[in-house]
Amino acid sequence: MIQPASPDLVTVNIDGREVAVPKGTNMIEAARRTGVDVPYYCYHPKLTVVGNCRMCLVEMGTPAVDPATKSPVIDPTTGKQRINWSPKPTIACATTASPGLHIRTTSPMVKDCREGVMEFLLINHPLDCPICDQAGECKLQEQATGYGRGYSRFIEQKNVKPKRTVLGPRVMLDDERCILCSRCIRFSKEIAMDDVLGFTDRGSHSTLACYPGRRLENNYSLNTVDICPVGALTSTDFRFKMRVWFLKQTNSVDTESSVGANTVVWSREGTVYRITPRQNDGVNDTWMADSGRALYKEVRSPSRLDTVRVGGVESALDFAVKSAAEIFARGGVAVVGSGRSSVEEQFLTRKMADALGARAWLVSRLGEGDGILVSADRNPNVRGALVTGLVKALPSARLDSLGELIDSGTVTSVVSVGEDLAAAGLGAGRLAKVSVVYVGTHANATSAAARIVIPTLTVFEKNGTFINQQFRIQRFGRAVPGLAGATDDLVVLARLAEAAGGPRLGADVGSIWAQIAAEVPALGAMSYGTLPDTGLLIDAGPWAGLPFAEGASLHFRPASAAPKEAATRG
Ligand code: SF4
Ligand code: FES
Repeated sequence: MIQPASPDLVTVNIDGREVAVPKGTNMIEAARRTGVDVPYYCYHPKLTVVGNCRMCLVEMGTPAVDPATKSPVIDPTTGKQRINWSPKPTIACATTASPGLHIRTTSPMVKDCREGVMEFLLINHPLDCPICDQAGECKLQEQATGYGRGYSRFIEQKNVKPKRTVLGPRVMLDDERCILCSRCIRFSKEIAMDDVLGFTDRGSHSTLACYPGRRLENNYSLNTVDICPVGALTSTDFRFKMRVWFLKQTNSVDTESSVGANTVVWSREGTVYRITPRQNDGVNDTWMADSGRALYKEVRSPSRLDTVRVGGVESALDFAVKSAAEIFARGGVAVVGSGRSSVEEQFLTRKMADALGARAWLVSRLGEGDGILVSADRNPNVRGALVTGLVKALPSARLDSLGELIDSGTVTSVVSVGEDLAAAGLGAGRLAKVSVVYVGTHANATSAAARIVIPTLTVFEKNGTFINQQFRIQRFGRAVPGLAGATDDLVVLARLAEAAGGPRLGADVGSIWAQIAAEVPALGAMSYGTLPDTGLLIDAGPWAGLPFAEGASLHFRPASAAPKEAATRG
């Protein structure tokens, strides 16, 4: 047996190949490291192990030891320590690596076990794959092909269980398809902290249900749909809308709070159909909130801005920029940036403010954090505004100081990058005193009052980065083409910065990053193209003393909580 390189590793033998794995690794994961696939249903790397599907059965052997002397028993034919193979199969998910442990994953016994388990799972399962929403990502279908017998011996009547059971506002259950893996039950209890699901009845009549008087309506309910290995749990929003193999997947980031959960946006021919979580063990594991999954609806919202307007009249972008230049030339300009803008947009907003010699404001958006994946800071990128130097302090929810400057006549025009100034405390009276240049995606009181309106793109229609609560910079990609009539924010901001008297700037992410790397010390060693899919932590030191709003969440502990936590542990 090879000696592991570190005391934290143990050497196990999988189908004759030795591999060193960290202590505590279960044999499904150990096999995965050697490229061996052990099929499973109930196991999930982020949930407790219950071992109730039996799909992961393997043969297991342990090194033989003389009970009297405790010394290894050597096999005279091989000259190696003899392996005592257990006469019965063992579940790999609940077997953790121990020194010298052997497993066989392809023996006739294992093949027989898998065929038996598949046969049991399928006897009451409906054969409705052609109309099932899970087609294309169904583990039962895949593993029936890979490990099943290939034919059914079941001639009895199948059980009839409830169909189209509404578990909650976003999740529908087809009980006939449920293979009783209990992943959804464990997720609700262990991650969502909402113990709402359980099994009723026994044997093949076991049925998943909500506890009496309860509904699956927590803000994480759709994760049960993601992890259901079959088509039993479906999303009421997505079901029957589109076959998954037609959909293009684009990596993105959840913008509903500063957590920055990693996501995949699924789209086809310019339409987004669903958003699901993307694994990032440092941020969101494999989960995301339901609220973040509905954000794609903003792309097709009836309130989308799709026409450049100057003085209420439909116009061209060139004319709008020229008109903005005339407003800028009069002086007295203030810039309101956004914690929803990307790092690149905030950088260009800062360049525009610098060229104007104007002060930049930001608007905070605070709510209650849920301690899981929605934080108190509902802006995804306040850290980006700090890092790019757009602002030096944390924002407040109201623009009262800007309002006073408007009242005093010091500020006579305001550029708003996507912020509704009216909602931030600048009432209609104040907005009437200034010329507003509004750069944004959706209509609001500010766009209605603006002298110049330039429609831009939603996060689903452009590329960029956000910096989350951990100071982790994360990339998002363009899933669908921009709305006709809207212009990329980077193009608009670069042109406005030039209209403000600044130099001509690149208006694509690549060239802006060349400038960011040269001018923003915290991002100096990076480039957009080489950022890992799971993001990169940057040095938060310069901003460590700021009183950020976030409390603890899944993988985040606020700096102010660290001493207390350390004391508790000590
Ligand atoms: S509904 Fe899906 S996740 Fe829940 S127990 Fe049944 S098969 Fe497992
Ligand atoms: S994955 Fe091991 S018993 Fe289900």
